[in-house]
Amino acid sequence: MGKRYLWVDTMFDAKRDDLVLGVVGAGLMGRGIAQIAALAGIEVLLFDQRQDAAVDARKSVVQTLDMLVNKGRCAAEAAAAAGERIIVAPQLSDLGRCHCVIEAIVEDLAAKTALFQQLESIVPADCVLTTNTSSLSVSAIAAGCQHPERVAGFHFFSPVPLMKLVEVIEAALTAPAVAEALTALARRMGHTPVRAQDTPGFIVNHAGRGYITEALRTLSEGVAEVAALDRILKGAVGFRLGPFELLDLTGLDVSHPVMESIYNQYYQEPRYRPSVITRQRLSAGLLGRKSGRGFYRYPDGKPEADAAPERPLAASTPLIALPKIWISRCNGIAHEQLASRLEAAGVALDNGAQPAAESACIVLPVGQDATTAALAEQLDPKRTVAVDPLFIERHLTLMSTPVTDSAIRDAVWRALAATDIAVTPIRDSAGFVVQRVVAMIVNIACDMAQQAVATPADIDRAVTLGLAYPQGPLALGDLLGAERILAILDGMYAFYRDPRYRPSPWLIRRARLGVSLLMPAS
Ligand code: NAI
Repeated sequence: MGKRYLWVDTMFDAKRDDLVLGVVGAGLMGRGIAQIAALAGIEVLLFDQRQDAAVDARKSVVQTLDMLVNKGRCAAEAAAAAGERIIVAPQLSDLGRCHCVIEAIVEDLAAKTALFQQLESIVPADCVLTTNTSSLSVSAIAAGCQHPERVAGFHFFSPVPLMKLVEVIEAALTAPAVAEALTALARRMGHTPVRAQDTPGFIVNHAGRGYITEALRTLSEGVAEVAALDRILKGAVGFRLGPFELLDLTGLDVSHPVMESIYNQYYQEPRYRPSVITRQRLSAGLLGRKSGRGFYRYPDGKPEADAAPERPLAASTPLIALPKIWISRCNGIAHEQLASRLEAAGVALDNGAQPAAESACIVLPVGQDATTAALAEQLDPKRTVAVDPLFIERHLTLMSTPVTDSAIRDAVWRALAATDIAVTPIRDSAGFVVQRVVAMIVNIACDMAQQAVATPADIDRAVTLGLAYPQGPLALGDLLGAERILAILDGMYAFYRDPRYRPSPWLIRRARLGVSLLMPAS
């Protein structure tokens, strides 16, 4: 590497006021990047192949800055100075004095490669060139350059000023000093940098596969309706948006191609397998909020109210009329939790070692469906239901076998509802809803750590900031226990015989050793 990029060590973190950033592409992303850079005291040369677009972008940033001043979120002087720091560049050749260029043009490999080659003939020899691509290979974009070592990915998220995360992507030939410099530049712009290898989906779009694809798979198996699946995942785990609400927000025109692209870039890795459901709905134009109808309907642009599931019996029905409830002791902690909640709600329990002939039975399986668990415990599947032992204090998922007597199911539902914890009934599923979705999220993150896509800490940081999950996936795995996540996956793998559910070596080893999933590789 020699001395060529030595300056980058100090250039971006020192509060230098002579730093010049080129932004090419003045669309949604380019203008957000220009705004945060200008507010950080960096001069921005903004170029778009449509000069009007760059002029409009500058105007829109200035308006946003004025709005921030009016809301008291930015000092008037700082906003005025930031506005002045954004200069529209009429020609690409005006970018000749840039220390760094961020490309945010159309997502097209040929267009990006051509632009980088042009830029190399314009910018100084030590200028760092970056791409905001979210799906293309940074190495492929850099391949056409004379100095690929100065090319890196600098992946922001929309809306840039609010999403405080940026992925710094090291392509095959990126110089370490360049990646270091970009992490410093990200911090200077008030963002949190995470370092990622140049792999499909980088960190955030890769880690996000589990939530959506497993929810779609659960839907395709007829385990529950869309609203029920969203309600369970939000209520139990604390996701801000259910998977189907999220798909509607992003739009299937964006999410489905990303699912296909990551799956195919990983050579049909079953963990990322997309769903025919989204393919069909995309073809039908059911894109989501933007088309007025997706998994939900949006009359007047607002979502229709999500009706809570009806309780099976009138609230006035006395609990005493219900059969006694026997709870399996195979899972001691969950047994205690559920039994004490039901007793406190006045529900009569059958505390025998074996259930009495007329009692309703609850099993609490991990990684199994209600059918398998009932048979394993030699219970009558007609009188047996399962309750998910995970997050029992937050949400109760009630699962029937195909032969569970509906009167028994409704009686248990009524009893569970008396605890005042939300209850959602589902059909039989190995791993209920939460277990299978959470296990997929944790397993994919484990495999990303195994492949050194990023450090475990950066994987969790990126997912928390980029996807707003309540915890990073590895921390979530630690919270529930690596051994339990492994048991869920083993159960699903045995049931479905699908390599999609094979556990990552990262998970297996850490579960066996009893150490944290966040422990880095030695
Ligand atoms: P956009 O369509 O809003 O803006 C792109 C701009 O680039 C347009 O103004 C267009 O005139 C200009 N442009 C196209 N080709 C050009 C060229 N050869 N030279 C100069 N200007 C050119 O697109 P958006 O959403 O801002 O995305 C830009 C990049 O950022 C894409 O690579 C996209 O994949 C990536 N990205 C987008 C995110 C999003 O949520 N929209 C999130 C993260 C990354």
